[in-house]
Amino acid sequence: MKEKKKGYISYAESRQIIKYNKQQIRYYEKLKKRKHIPESEYVVQMRDENNIVEFDDLHTFFFTDTGTVKAVDGVSFDIPAHSTVGIVGESGCGKSVTSLSLLRLVQAPQGQIVSGAIRYRMKDGSCYDISKVPQEMMERISGKEISMIFQEPMTSLNPVFTIGYQLDEVSLLHIEGATKETARQKSIEMLELVGIANAEGVYKSYPHELSGGMRQRVMIAMALCCQPNLIIADEPTTALDVTIQAQILDLLRGLKEKFDSSIMLITHDLGVIAEMADFVVVMYAGKVIEAGNVFEIFDHPSHPYTIGLLRSKPVINKKVDELYCIKGRVPSAVDLPDYCYFKDRCDRCTAACGGKYPEFVWLSPTHKVACHLYDGVKEEN
Ligand SMILES: Nc1ncnc2c1ncn2[C@@H]1O[C@H](COP(=O)(O)OP(=O)(O)OP(=O)(O)O)[C@@H](O)[C@H]1O
Ligand SMILES: [Mg+2]
Repeated sequence: MKEKKKGYISYAESRQIIKYNKQQIRYYEKLKKRKHIPESEYVVQMRDENNIVEFDDLHTFFFTDTGTVKAVDGVSFDIPAHSTVGIVGESGCGKSVTSLSLLRLVQAPQGQIVSGAIRYRMKDGSCYDISKVPQEMMERISGKEISMIFQEPMTSLNPVFTIGYQLDEVSLLHIEGATKETARQKSIEMLELVGIANAEGVYKSYPHELSGGMRQRVMIAMALCCQPNLIIADEPTTALDVTIQAQILDLLRGLKEKFDSSIMLITHDLGVIAEMADFVVVMYAGKVIEAGNVFEIFDHPSHPYTIGLLRSKPVINKKVDELYCIKGRVPSAVDLPDYCYFKDRCDRCTAACGGKYPEFVWLSPTHKVACHLYDGVKEEN
């Protein structure tokens, strides 16, 4: 018999995959379209009253013609109230899909939250499982309770409407009793708050007339219009130069204090995390591999991947011949192994690493790591 090439599938197998994925999509779409969802299905209790978000074993998959992409595969972490949680990891590890799941913005019908819960505590104290709430309730949550600052302001702002029109829309949609005039006042007030000097002028401008930094400020103004409980910032400074980056981060920190919100900050930049975050979640290939408070992660990184990430960061005043880089690449999200996903890139792997995927080990009440190197360490939580 002809030996099958690794990574290739036969025509018959591909037909099977397509058929299976279409069935899955139909199933989840039907679930979503249910007319009446009883409250008992989505009203929940938070595990810890200090948290505003609890991701609990979240699975978000994309059912594509080439296979099921396990973009988020069993993610669990908490966002405590009034704190900043930084999410780091290589490109494609599922950071954005995790945040999009929280706003139920995953590209449907291929993208679906398959299982798990996302518990969220509203401003009025009630708690809901976001993965199950009816769509009309979700429209009240996004924007007003949770808002998002997207990575690329130029693609997120609509090029054919003025900044003012797009800002007014937020108030008109979410603030009860808002009129055109009050919305305009609020928009100008928000533009001034984010440090735009000529707020009246910018209000009348189109996105292409502004600089990158100004567009990002407009995005922040838009996200903060309704004083949300939680701000998701997906790489808010990647497209900006360092000076503007520092200004935007300062602004974000100041506004978080002013509005008493929490921030879920997604970034590649460990420097930004060190400066901004209270807690850090390290993701790899759709899973959380280490999480802890910022001191634990930076002073005692435990997973070889986190250690590698920190080693690959250049240090000012330290001369090196060559910058460290983690060898290899992230495995394909379609074809993940049963053993630790980092095994093939790890320079500390042992015989145990070829076995089943490692469970979390708690190194302190706030620091957890999924690596066989810590198998002997006693669990505290
Ligand atoms: N619409 C989609 N259809 C199919 N696969 C998708 C889709 N969106 C994301 N994915 C896959 O999900 C995985 C996670 O993607 P995600 O955008 O969350 O990565 P990320 O960690 O945010 O990366 P980056 O740092 O580059 O923004 C990737 O493998 C990606 O290819
Ligand atoms: Mg992303």
